Amino acid sequence: MKKTSVFADKNFRVGEISPRLYGSFIEHLGRAVYGGIYDPDDPSADENGFRKDVVSLVRELHVPIVRYPGGNFVSGYEWTDGVGPKEKRPARLDLAWHTTETNEFGTDEFVKWCRLAGVEPMLAVNMGTGTVKEAARLVEYCNHAGGTALSDYRRANGAEKPYGVTYWCIGNEMDGPWQIGHLSADDYGKKALEAAKVMRWTNGETDDALSNLHKLKLVVSGSSNHEMDTFPEWDRVVLEHTYGKADYLSMHRYYEYSTSDKRPLEDFFGAADNMAEYIETLEATIEYVRAKYRTRKQVYLSFDEWNVWKQSAPRTEPLWKRAPRLIEDIYTFRDSLVFAGLMNTLLNHCDLVKMGCLAQLVNVIAPITTERGDAFRQSIFYPFKYLANNARGATLRTFSDSDLFENKYGKARSLNEAVCYDAESGSVVVSLVNYAQEAREVSLELRSFGDLEPAEYVEMTNADLGATNGFSHKEDVVPAKKDLPAVKGGTHVSVVLPAMSWSYLKFKTKA
Ligand code: AHR
Repeated sequence: MKKTSVFADKNFRVGEISPRLYGSFIEHLGRAVYGGIYDPDDPSADENGFRKDVVSLVRELHVPIVRYPGGNFVSGYEWTDGVGPKEKRPARLDLAWHTTETNEFGTDEFVKWCRLAGVEPMLAVNMGTGTVKEAARLVEYCNHAGGTALSDYRRANGAEKPYGVTYWCIGNEMDGPWQIGHLSADDYGKKALEAAKVMRWTNGETDDALSNLHKLKLVVSGSSNHEMDTFPEWDRVVLEHTYGKADYLSMHRYYEYSTSDKRPLEDFFGAADNMAEYIETLEATIEYVRAKYRTRKQVYLSFDEWNVWKQSAPRTEPLWKRAPRLIEDIYTFRDSLVFAGLMNTLLNHCDLVKMGCLAQLVNVIAPITTERGDAFRQSIFYPFKYLANNARGATLRTFSDSDLFENKYGKARSLNEAVCYDAESGSVVVSLVNYAQEAREVSLELRSFGDLEPAEYVEMTNADLGATNGFSHKEDVVPAKKDLPAVKGGTHVSVVLPAMSWSYLKFKTKA
């Protein structure tokens, strides 16, 4: 059996884990909104048409913030279409996903849904067909108290108090030729700078450069992924234009593997370490621009789209259908292993990655899948649930002697780990993915905590890598409870991880 040692010490930290690392994303895409979070005809719908069964699953995941309304959709979206009396809202062609958008659900419904689900709204503004003026006007509609046409319009639409939306994405994937209104890095950088400035003025703030103290937190569009030809030059140019105004640079990445994939499994399992490289390159890019401007101001990373995405099923739904079934991936056990590794990577880079949005939340590449009257948790639901609910506080630096495996990105660690410590609750959380095709004995040395007591131990393992959950088999891929391991000398724990498995352990420090 393989043997691996992992060391962590309470005093050696990567950084604080922002609770917003566990955010998610709802786009007007397929059945994410219509039939997902909103369906007035669903038996569980409340008086606003919000599915209460979905809200309770979102609460179970403990998602703190949700990005909306896109995604590619936002680059053609006129937010004014989605507010005001529903019967007067126009149906429009959505050119991002070739569907009909009825606008029954818009900004007001989204913010109301966020309040119900206990999440913070994060809004994206249109930098494709949209203008600086339209972006600023959405800020006014949402955040201005009253006494102007737009703020009074919001009040007339039922929201007396301003929404106080803090987090704003300035466009989406503007480097991608698939984007409606795609721009060059220079053009986007200039436009984003002006949008940021005017959005801040609208929010009653100055736009002094190089301050981390602004109320509006603004995310500028970084590269769509690190395989773009323009990566990381796009990011450098955009940051050089916007460093004084931006709070975050966005990053997106989906890792692919279809059930019929003939590629070596290693290429999929290499995703977590590859994601780490992507983050580290952008850390260096930010650092370069920061040094160039000789400023202490720190721009952080917002990994506001990440997941596994099979990208293989051809579209079968007709053009221009309302809420068609699009990108409704059914996740396998195999996917949940890669997914857990990606979560570990985010945690291990929590010093700069201060925002994360699992893309997406319901039906479209999502942990929750619905039909009218029913819903189930996908395999990827579980690593997210356990870590979002428990991996708090700070990530600790780990030292491990894991073996490596070759894959298309280079070499990756065969044992992928994250160790987090929350001083407030006195809990230590360990997340371990064993990517090897054989069992592994892991010797954990958790130092400087005093005596640790084991509190929880679950494991996801399955003889069938392709196993999935579904409406008729909701619990085929779920974590199993394990007997709590002994903690020798208060610090040393030995566990055996099955081949290709994810394990989650929680310990408590003794008071
Ligand atoms: O999440 C699905 C799509 O993936 C988003 O609309 C886009 O931003 C990304 O390419």
